[in-house]
Amino acid sequence: MQKKILGIAGSPRKAATYESLQVALEGAQTLCADELNVELVSFKGKKIAPCNHCNACKRNGGRCVVDDDMTPLYESLVEADSFIFASPVYAMNMTPQLSAFFSRMRALHDRDGGKLRNKLATAIAVGGRRNGGQELAISNIVHACLTRGIVYIGGEPGFYSGAMVWSGDKGKDVLSFDEEAGNSLRSLGRRLAYWTLLIAAGKSLVGEGEVQMSKYMF
Ligand SMILES: Cc1cc2nc3c(=O)[nH]c(=O)nc-3n(C[C@H](O)[C@H](O)[C@H](O)COP(=O)(O)O)c2cc1C
Repeated sequence: MQKKILGIAGSPRKAATYESLQVALEGAQTLCADELNVELVSFKGKKIAPCNHCNACKRNGGRCVVDDDMTPLYESLVEADSFIFASPVYAMNMTPQLSAFFSRMRALHDRDGGKLRNKLATAIAVGGRRNGGQELAISNIVHACLTRGIVYIGGEPGFYSGAMVWSGDKGKDVLSFDEEAGNSLRSLGRRLAYWTLLIAAGKSLVGEGEVQMSKYMF
């Protein structure tokens, strides 16, 4: 069965982040394309409220009762094998939209270790400035992944934590502005594809592994 990489473009626009994510997903498809299926979800026009801590999901088996554009995305998250989380840098961090998305994933986190456990992810940060906080934004995405049981896969030598793009606030034409970014984006996507297939092969041998919850959970 094909494995799925889901790309999330956490910008309220279809601009530099969307473009960068497309390039990374193209990179992923250069490895065993027949084995992989990719999908890109843009936050443009989507309303995703942050978690309001009503705890309904803890009482009803993990169903979030907030009805907005997050609702169909729960299924997409559970179906996917791995993710590329791409965010513009806002105030040296991921966007509030992507942060809200991560907080709403709490509904998928349950006593069995969660429905996102052992899935893989990597990240892209796109800043208007050359050094505008891309590494910090990625660092926060890494930590958000850890709270959801997602295993983070970094980049290659030279872009250790993920792909960092300098958009110069130029919107869609980002890759002619930051010429080097294309290489790291394609390479990051291909690396995630490699790990996605490797882990899938490993899971067929050893399964998902036993969950041993901390006594401090719940
Ligand atoms: C509210 C806001 C905050 C921003 N903060 C930063 C920042 O801290 N560092 C930076 O490099 N760029 C910052 N930018 C610029 C965006 O990261 C940049 O324009 C990026 O390309 C936007 O992504 P998009 O084109 O995919 O929407 C900010 C933009 C906005 C709207």
